[in-house]
Amino acid sequence: MELDYHPELQGLTLRRPQLKLLQDVPFPAWLADNWETVKNFQAKPDDLLIATYPKSGTTWIQEIVDLINQNGDVKMCKRAPVYERIPFLERFIEKSTPGVELIEKMASPRVMKTHLPIQLVPKSFWEQDCKTIVIARNGKDNLVSNFHFHRMDIVMPEPGNWPEFFQKFLHGQVSWGSWYDHVKGWWEAKDKHRILFLFYEDMKENPRREILKVAKFMEKVLEEDVIEKIVHHSSFEVMRDNPMANYTTFPMDAMNHNISRFMRKGEVGDWKNHFTVSQNEDFDEHYERQMVHSSLKFRNVL
Ligand code: A3P
Repeated sequence: MELDYHPELQGLTLRRPQLKLLQDVPFPAWLADNWETVKNFQAKPDDLLIATYPKSGTTWIQEIVDLINQNGDVKMCKRAPVYERIPFLERFIEKSTPGVELIEKMASPRVMKTHLPIQLVPKSFWEQDCKTIVIARNGKDNLVSNFHFHRMDIVMPEPGNWPEFFQKFLHGQVSWGSWYDHVKGWWEAKDKHRILFLFYEDMKENPRREILKVAKFMEKVLEEDVIEKIVHHSSFEVMRDNPMANYTTFPMDAMNHNISRFMRKGEVGDWKNHFTVSQNEDFDEHYERQMVHSSLKFRNVL
């Protein structure tokens, strides 16, 4: 399969941001340059935060949370694109309303998403004791998904080719920093705050079971037919074909689905189609060192 970055679209790379460090964590410049606004964001006690490392199934859980909030009313969930229904806290992209502004206009209870590592989450979320849903995905599939996302999303820094991106990811030289630090940080925080920690692989294995966990965490009781509807409408195939969930409504010059679709494959284990034997060995060896002291365990990575 084609893994190289598409050179014919290089013109668009001119608009790609550089990475900028913020408290030693790299971010796209558009976020680092607007940091004070994010840092000073005022959370409310009934805000619900969805926190993930990019490409872990954020959009999936966003759709599930909205379906739960709307009691399975699919029409209501098509009232706006997912990125407007559940805005991205730290988004400051040219020619679009900043995430903070979208959130400030919302009626409570508000739901929003962030990719910030735990140590950079605005402190008002913890002062207000807000609930947070975290979803983590095994690092190998995350790396692959991240690579393809960087290729298609022009507001992300230049990914380079596959071997280059592989190395950058391992060493945390990508947007929102090290995957290892991110997942370990949120894992450690889960016992200190009101956090529901989910795994992408568990959601794939048994979406109904995980949806019920989310509903319980949100203190919602769902009728059986509503649960069925939510399972169906949050499936990969249905979301892939739903313009209000699949990002095809996002400006084409920011996200180019002809390079790679946002709703790309939605599988566990796609890394096997990308990693060389030696990359897999490098990854495993690196992983072992990074995760040795953590009780966080991922499945489906061997
Ligand atoms: P792939 O690139 O592996 O296909 P995020 O929303 O955090 O950016 O994550 C995007 C990843 O989640 C993509 O992974 C996307 O296909 C996958 N995804 C989105 N909705 C999904 C669903 N309903 N079921 C399974 N995977 C889903």
